[in-house]
This record gives sequence, C-alpha cells and structure tokens, in this order.
Amino acid sequence: MTMERREFDALIIGAGGAGMRAALELAEADLKVAVISKVFPTRSHTVAAQGGVNAALANVLPDSWHWHMFDTVKGSDYLGDQDAIEYMCRAAPKIVYELEHMGVPFSRLDNGKMYQRKFGGQSQNFGGEQAARTTPAADRTGHAILHALYQQNIKAKTHFFDEYFVTDIIRADDGTVLGALALCIATGEVMMVSARTTLIATGGAGQIYKTTSNALINTGDGTAMALRAGLPVSDMEFFQFHPTGIAGRGMLITEGARGEGGYLLNKDGERFMERYAPNAKDLASRDVVSRSIASEVRDGRGCGPEQDHCLLKLNHLDEATIAKRLPGIRQTCITFLSIDPVEEPIPVYPTAHYTMGGIPTNRYGQVVAPFGTGPEEPVPGLYAAGESACVSVHGANRLGGNSLLDILVFGRASAKHMIKYLKENRYHLPSNEAAIEQAMARLQRWDRKGDGESVTDIRVEVQKTMEAHCGVFRTQDVMDEGVAKIRAFRARMDDAVISDHSKVFNTARIEALETENLIDNALATAKCAAARKESRGAHSRLDFTERDDKQWMKHSLFYLQDERIEYKPVQMKPLEVDSFPPKVRTY
Ligand code: FUM
Repeated sequence: MTMERREFDALIIGAGGAGMRAALELAEADLKVAVISKVFPTRSHTVAAQGGVNAALANVLPDSWHWHMFDTVKGSDYLGDQDAIEYMCRAAPKIVYELEHMGVPFSRLDNGKMYQRKFGGQSQNFGGEQAARTTPAADRTGHAILHALYQQNIKAKTHFFDEYFVTDIIRADDGTVLGALALCIATGEVMMVSARTTLIATGGAGQIYKTTSNALINTGDGTAMALRAGLPVSDMEFFQFHPTGIAGRGMLITEGARGEGGYLLNKDGERFMERYAPNAKDLASRDVVSRSIASEVRDGRGCGPEQDHCLLKLNHLDEATIAKRLPGIRQTCITFLSIDPVEEPIPVYPTAHYTMGGIPTNRYGQVVAPFGTGPEEPVPGLYAAGESACVSVHGANRLGGNSLLDILVFGRASAKHMIKYLKENRYHLPSNEAAIEQAMARLQRWDRKGDGESVTDIRVEVQKTMEAHCGVFRTQDVMDEGVAKIRAFRARMDDAVISDHSKVFNTARIEALETENLIDNALATAKCAAARKESRGAHSRLDFTERDDKQWMKHSLFYLQDERIEYKPVQMKPLEVDSFPPKVRTY
C-alpha cells in the first residue's frame, strides 16, 4: 500500500456538529485545520437531530440557566459532573445566538423571537411547572445547524477530507497524540495525517443495537480508537432508549411531538403516563417514559395484533400546527408507515438512541486518563467532544435537547483549549513509524476473502445480542450471557472474511473495521452494565431496582486490554453555585 503524508496544526476526526463547531473556531484563528469524515460532512448524524437545542432564552415561558442546570443534574440521576453542567447551561444562550448569526433558520414566534418548545424533564423554578427551553428549526434542527456550520467552515477555509475512514490514532512512545491514519474509501489508499492536536468527534455507537434511531455510520469508531490506544472509556453502561421510535423499525419520532401536545396511549385507550409520572406525564424524562412504554407492553397492554407497541396520538392537534412544527415526522410516517399522523396515531416503542458514555474528558475537551497508578491527567494533544466523549453532562440519562447543546458548547470549548495548546507546543513531533506499521497491519488483515464466516453476519448477531441482553430492563444472568457472546464475537472476527469488495469502493473492508469497533463498544457497554449493581437513569435493573448512592455515585472507566473496570468519583462541585445533592427523582 502506498501512503500519502499530510501535516496540519489540528486534526478533527468527524464532521458532525462537535467537529464542525471546533473546526470553525480553529480555522477562524488562522490555524491549518483538517476535518476527516467518513461521509460527506452534511450527511453526519447531527443532520438527523429533530426537536431542537436547549437554552434558557425565556422566549415563551420564564426561564433561567440555573433551572436548566437543576433539570440536567436531576435528569442525569445525579451522575453528571456539576462543573461541566453549570458551564454548559450558562453557555447555552450565547451558543444559540451565535448559530442564529451564522444563519440557522430557527422557527419563530409572531413577535419575531425564536420559538421554544416544551421537552421532557424541563421545569421552571427547580422542579416546578413545565418549562419551554428547546429551540427548534421545525423538526429538522440538526439539518439546519449542520448545513450552517459547513458553510461557515468552507468560508473559513477548513480543509475537508470527505469519505476517508480513520482507522487509528497514532501516539508517540510518551503517549502524546501525533495524528491519525486514514483510508480513502474510494481508492483504498492510506494517508497519515500528522497534527499537533487531534480532536475525536465521531459520534455515538447506536449501531450496537438492532433497533435504533442511529444511522448506519454510528459505529463508535472514536471510542474504539481510544480503547485500542490504551485509553479508557467512561460510563458506557448508560445507553439511552428514546421512548418514541417507530415500532419495530426504530426511526425517531421527536419528543417535540409530545412537546406540541401529543400523548401516549395503551391498548385500552388509557393515557398511561399519568400513572407513571403524575406531574410531567408524557414529558417526563426519557428513561422514565421508555420504561413506562416497555412496562405497558410487558404487562399485556400493548397495541396491535402482537400487542408489542403503544400509540402516540397527534390527530387531535390542528393540521396547521403539525405542518408548521412537525413536517418531517409527518413525512417519515407517510413514507415508512403509510400513516398520516394528522389522521391516525403512530405506533411507537423505545429505540436505541444515544451513547451517554464515551471518551472521558474535562470541560476543556482534554481527554483525561490515569497514567499507570498515578492520578488522572490530560493525554497530550488529544481532545474529544460530542457523543463520542463523556464530559460528563448527561450522567445516567440525557435530557432531550441537551445533545445539540453539548456538541456545540464542548466543540467550541475544545477548540479554544486546542488553540492554547498549539501556542505552547509550536512544533510537530517526530512520527512514530512502529505505531503506524501496527495500524497498517490491522488494516491489511481485512483483505481476507474466500471461505470463512462473513463479517456481515457477525455484525448482525452483535446487534441482536445487545438488544436481547442489554436493553431497557436488565438482569445479571442475561447480561453475563451477553458479555460471553460478545467476547466470542471478538474471537470469531479473527477468522472472518469480507465479501468481494473490488466493485464497491472498499465498503466491505470498512464494514469489517466498523464491526471491530462495534464489538469493542458492545463489550464496554455490556461489561460495565453487568458490573453496576444498582438502577440509575437509563441503567434499569430488575434485580437491583434502587439507586444506591452509597456504593455507586461514581463513573466507570473500562479498559480493553484486560477488560478492567475502574471507578472515579462524580464531580459534585459546580463552578460558582451551590451543588445539587442527590434526591429521590420523580416527575
Ligand atoms: O426527540 C428528539 O427530537 C431528540 C432530541 C434529542 O435527542 O436531543
């Protein structure tokens, strides 16, 4: 294989909202920035975000960043780091105004201000009345934001490598990150991008599950790269199931549908959320609503011939509201279900949606890890942001609308710190040829065709295994069995083969590399889930039904080499305000 070599000040891996927001900040500071994306940038998964971005603008109802902070801490089931949460909620209004000035076409009120809708887990005055904090562009918010960010990056002269797949980050012997190795999907040629700073912003790993709202590209590539580089990943046991995926298929029906007045029904026509969350009802936090739907189905109150889903009713809403506020989900229902929600309710069931865990970072985006037995320190030159990172602002359960906020706030914060790092580290370090060769060897293994088990079959089995063994409700035996199966998939990949890819632009080889990444993400998720013997947020155990703050008020850190799990304390101390101590969480 021939290898091209390129040099940049900063390398951004991933062109979703986090990567593009960071790239923009760096390019506007006159730095030489490369963004590598495995798809055309505006096809990154941020494009699929529907409902909006949270910010206490108080355009519709009274609001404050401090109430937003309280809701986020409570939503996280007290596992979120309160310094990072305070930082994010304070920054939110400025971040949204910046986007408005970049040209994002946010929905408007009659008075010209940005519209804000009600989303789950939001309150006024620290747990009082429902708030309206989620700022949308109809139900295509991610699309609007991603396109604006791409346009701004083009203007700022960011250098894009479209349809390149990063296989591994490359580290010096002292651990400093030197850049990454990437494969051009069209030609199969390899490129080494050396950079003085590298940001991983590759998004989540929703493809570890069979039924998911995530695109095929969400294979946890960044978290797997970190694991292979000897770094830990944090809190992977907390995987969010969005309550309203299209039943059996997984496509997202935005929480904004309930924010606009939609509600859930069981087979008896009962608004069952009144039983599970008497105050917030359908706008309780996501973990609560997902468990409620799954419980209704489990207890025989599901709808349809198989009684395997619930219904989301929108047909009492005025057609003009649906056309104005929810045009995308109406189209999705017509296209995939031949159902028009203006006339009929939508069949829904929880769908795998969001990776709360990821590469551990501080609030400057620096990847932090303990070195040997020493204390936690930044990994020189390495940053992570967005869904591939765990900062941790979402803890055990993310609030809807906080993920677009997270990518923008911490994409920008990472870039600001990278600029500082670049001033202090002015020269490129020598390359590490041994590490490059090792990464090349992994790549070359995936030329194997001919007889053997197919990578595609293993990928599908991984997804079915995670769905069956690490879903909404969890028990020890079932999870332990899942871990054993996932370990076996790793071994089976040693002898697996790819299909003849000569006519399909290396896509079979990419699938193999992605499947390796999925397996490592699945192992981290299932192992950490089996180890956490409590119920908290999205991690809901039938054999340990209570939250256990005495034992488990801590983040997990999973290492691939020996499947080791360590723990570190939650940062309970905010920056300037008083901390929110754990309380019983009701909605
Ligand atoms: O329901 C939604 O629109 C999803 C939003 C989110 O995940 O933040």
